[in-house]
Amino acid sequence: MTVTLKGKCALITGSSRGIGKGIALKLAENGVKVAIHYYRNEAAAKDTLANVQKRDASGFIVQADVLQPQDISRMFERVRSEFGGLDIFVSNARPELPEFFQPPMDITLDQWDAAIDSQAKAFLVSAREAVRLMSGGGRIIAITYGTGSRTGSVLPWVGMGSAKAAMESLVRYFAVGLAKRGITVNAVSPGWTEDSVLNSLPPQAQDLISGRRRECRRAPLLG
Ligand SMILES: NC(=O)c1ccc[n+]([C@@H]2O[C@H](COP(=O)([O-])OP(=O)(O)OC[C@H]3O[C@@H](n4cnc5c(N)ncnc54)[C@H](OP(=O)(O)O)[C@@H]3O)[C@@H](O)[C@H]2O)c1
Repeated sequence: MTVTLKGKCALITGSSRGIGKGIALKLAENGVKVAIHYYRNEAAAKDTLANVQKRDASGFIVQADVLQPQDISRMFERVRSEFGGLDIFVSNARPELPEFFQPPMDITLDQWDAAIDSQAKAFLVSAREAVRLMSGGGRIIAITYGTGSRTGSVLPWVGMGSAKAAMESLVRYFAVGLAKRGITVNAVSPGWTEDSVLNSLPPQAQDLISGRRRECRRAPLLG
């Protein structure tokens, strides 16, 4: 059976750049109308939209801080007024490193909250909002980082690793709870992806996460 995406409507959080932008452009290539979400970087979101339009698809940009549940609700209200409904929701946004990147003994409670709220609470609030717009079934996808939440080897990842693990758990509960409505819920775990915030990590951490090796080095992050 051939599945066509043409004419479907999607919202991708964090699609001003990085992996979210890639998802937005790939969906646009398949005729999907795309809501491009950003936080601070309006120019980048406009650039994504221009690239969506170059692919003969339509869309709009919408700003929201996913740490603020009322912002999330406002974002979905905009989607409702622009598209009238939603077929695909991708939860992809993630705060910048300084907002959460600290080892277990040093992470502040604000950093912990930024990690957990941006992934677990934001996914909970967003998935519920998305479902209200998915009257004919739909697809909900959470972008996670499975390796980071399992190994514990990059110590300053503790907040984000724990947050992603909580989000993955939520994905399972929503998948069971929404199956009868024709809405699938899945997590996708990309590997190391260039041109992202990860490129700003210390070289040893980049090597560890990406699987690259350098001679004669110890990663201080592991100590
Ligand atoms: N990069 C990798 O190698 C990799 C690997 C596995 C999984 N992932 C996952 O893939 C997803 C995307 O990662 P990426 O590296 O492509 O991201 P990125 O390039 O760092 O972009 C982050 C995105 O999140 C938005 N954002 C930041 N803080 C926000 C906030 N408080 N509220 C709402 N949006 C916010 C940014 O908006 P502005 O542009 O407006 O700031 C931007 O669109 C993340 O969930 C990440 O954990 C990444």
